[in-house]
Amino acid sequence: MAALWSSVASPARPTVKKESLPALIMESIVLFGPPGAGKGTQAQRIMESTGLPQVSTGDMLRAAVAAGTPTGIEAKKYMDAGQLVPDEVIIDLIKDRIQEDDASNGVMFDGFPRTIPQAEALSTITAVSHVVAIEVPDERIVERICGRYTCADCSAVFHDTFNPTTKEGVCDSCGSSNFKRRADDNADTVMSRLNAYHEQTSPLAAWYDSKGIFFRIDGDRDIDSITQDILTTLE
Ligand code: AP5
Repeated sequence: MAALWSSVASPARPTVKKESLPALIMESIVLFGPPGAGKGTQAQRIMESTGLPQVSTGDMLRAAVAAGTPTGIEAKKYMDAGQLVPDEVIIDLIKDRIQEDDASNGVMFDGFPRTIPQAEALSTITAVSHVVAIEVPDERIVERICGRYTCADCSAVFHDTFNPTTKEGVCDSCGSSNFKRRADDNADTVMSRLNAYHEQTSPLAAWYDSKGIFFRIDGDRDIDSITQDILTTLE
C-alpha cells in the first residue's frame, strides 16, 4: 500500500521567503477544517517550511479507489455519498503510513483526524504539537469546492476563479497540461460532507482546545495571508 500514497504525494509550492520560515518542527501537526477550507492548498505551501510531509487521508483513499484495492472498493461508497469512511479503515491507513521513513520527524496531517476515535488513536501513534483550524463559513464552501481542479500529474490545487493557473491550461507547479476534477466535488455531495463535518468532526475542536494545542486561523481571506498566519502560528 505504501507505494500507492507515495505516488500521490503533493508537490511543494513555496511562495514564502526563506528568511520568514519557522524552525523545523519535530512533532506532527494537524490541518483541520471543513471540506474546501483550504487544508490541501495550505499543506502544499507550508510543506517545505515545516519539513513535514503532507499526509492526506483523502488523497490516500482516492489512490486506493483508483487502484481498485479492497480498501478503495470499501471506501468509495462512503466517499461518493459524502460520508466519513469507517474509523478502523482510516486508522489502519495512518498506522501504516506513519511507519514510512519520511514520517520519522512527524507529518502534516490533512483531513485526519475527523472523529474523536481517530484523534484518540492518533494520540497513541505520534505526538501532535499544533492543530491548525482553517475557519471558513459554510456559504463559501460550495463555490470553493465546485470550482476546484487539480493537476493530474503533481496534485497541485487550483480554482476556476479564486486560484487559477498563471498560464491557462498549464500547471504552475510542474508544467503539466493534465488536470482533473474530483467525483465528489458537486453541490449535492458537498452538503453531505458539510453535515458530516458539523456532526462528527467539529466536536474535535473542543477536544483539542482542552489540550491547549488548537489554533484558529481566519480562512476567509486571500491564500497568501492565510499561509503567513499559519507559519507564524507554527513558529
Ligand atoms: P478529503 O479529500 O479530505 O476532502 P475534504 O476534507 O472534504 O477536504 P477537501 O480536499 O475538499 O478541501 P481542502 O480543505 O483540502 O481544500 P482545498 O485546499 O482543496 O476527503 C474526501 C472524502 O474522503 C471524505 O468526504 C470522506 O469520505 C473520506 N475521508 C478522508 N479523510 C477521512 C477521515 N480522516 N475519516 C473518514 N473519512 C475520510 O481548497 C478547495 C478549493 O478552494 C480549491 O479550488 C482552492 O484553490 C480554493 N481555495 C483554497 N484556499 C482559498 C482561499 N483562501 N480563497 C479562495 N479559494 C481558496
